Amino acid sequence: MLEKIDELKAKVDAFHSDDKEQIEAFRIEYMGAKNGLINNLFKAFREVPADQKKEFGLRLNLLKKAAEDKIKSLKELAEASSEAQGAGIDLTLPGEPYNLGSRHPISIVKNEIVSIFNKIGFNISEGPEIEDDWHNFSALNLPEEHPARDMQDTFFIEKDPDVLLRTHTSSVQIRYMENNEPPIRTISPGRVFRNEAISARAHCIFHQIEGLYIDKNVSFADLKQTLLFFVREFFGKDSKIRLRPSYFPFTEPSAEVDVYWGLNSEADYRITKGTGWLEIMGCGMVDPAVLKNVGIDPEVYSGYAFGMGIERIAMLKYQIKDLRMYFENDIRFLDQFQSSLVR
Ligand code: PHE
Repeated sequence: MLEKIDELKAKVDAFHSDDKEQIEAFRIEYMGAKNGLINNLFKAFREVPADQKKEFGLRLNLLKKAAEDKIKSLKELAEASSEAQGAGIDLTLPGEPYNLGSRHPISIVKNEIVSIFNKIGFNISEGPEIEDDWHNFSALNLPEEHPARDMQDTFFIEKDPDVLLRTHTSSVQIRYMENNEPPIRTISPGRVFRNEAISARAHCIFHQIEGLYIDKNVSFADLKQTLLFFVREFFGKDSKIRLRPSYFPFTEPSAEVDVYWGLNSEADYRITKGTGWLEIMGCGMVDPAVLKNVGIDPEVYSGYAFGMGIERIAMLKYQIKDLRMYFENDIRFLDQFQSSLVR
């Protein structure tokens, strides 16, 4: 009997397989509850003379333990190797494409404009989209009943005309001037709202970037040069601009800025109405009355301001013909804009 145990122990030690079926056959042969070799030895153990039982028991238990350990470790190995081989998986198949989003064209253009002005020392300021009359209108030299308020159709809260959705981010400039001493150099990007019928060229929600510079001895020449710098960074180094007299209640004098687009194609004639020039923003020298409203002495300080619609600039950059596309979130549209996201 002792020899039989040693013999089985040697076989158990020698057994090796990475085949799950073979391992299972081995388990049944040795550890099977009914006719397993080891179980049979346990049955025979009863016949062993009492003085040898201790020795037998010891060896038999060692054999059983060795068989259990063997089966466990072989099973684990077989499992691991079939996983590594990718049982049932064809590793040569091409991977599932993993779609990264792309930035919205409005964000791409906004970031680009912001970074151009950052380079020449403008910081970024933000403010609330729900405004009061003072910051959106009155402080900007647009008192109640001023006809120029009609230029910006406003969403009001019926119960309280002092609660409105800002119609431009000039409101942020007022807040910034109220809370900061000159010199001030800031740009204010943000969403604005106007009660306009939605069409290919107008929307009730759009985005602006407005700029403000307040210091001693700021002149119109500074404004012009800054805008020329911006346009050349954004549209190319040979770009040309022209300023046309205009009117805004908060700037004096005021101007509209056009960029030269050219007349190279039929479409150019159409979008520039045959002039070759495209309007891209409004600007002017901050009206002394506005400076007074925010507690800045217009005898000491002067400044300029400008404001542009991001949608419009993005339309020019990407030749987008319908403003509504920005807000439809059609993935086929959005996917076309390569973003600065890492791919
Ligand atoms: N706030 C003006 C608008 O929304 C733009 C503007 C800003 C014009 C600053 C002049 C100076 O139309």
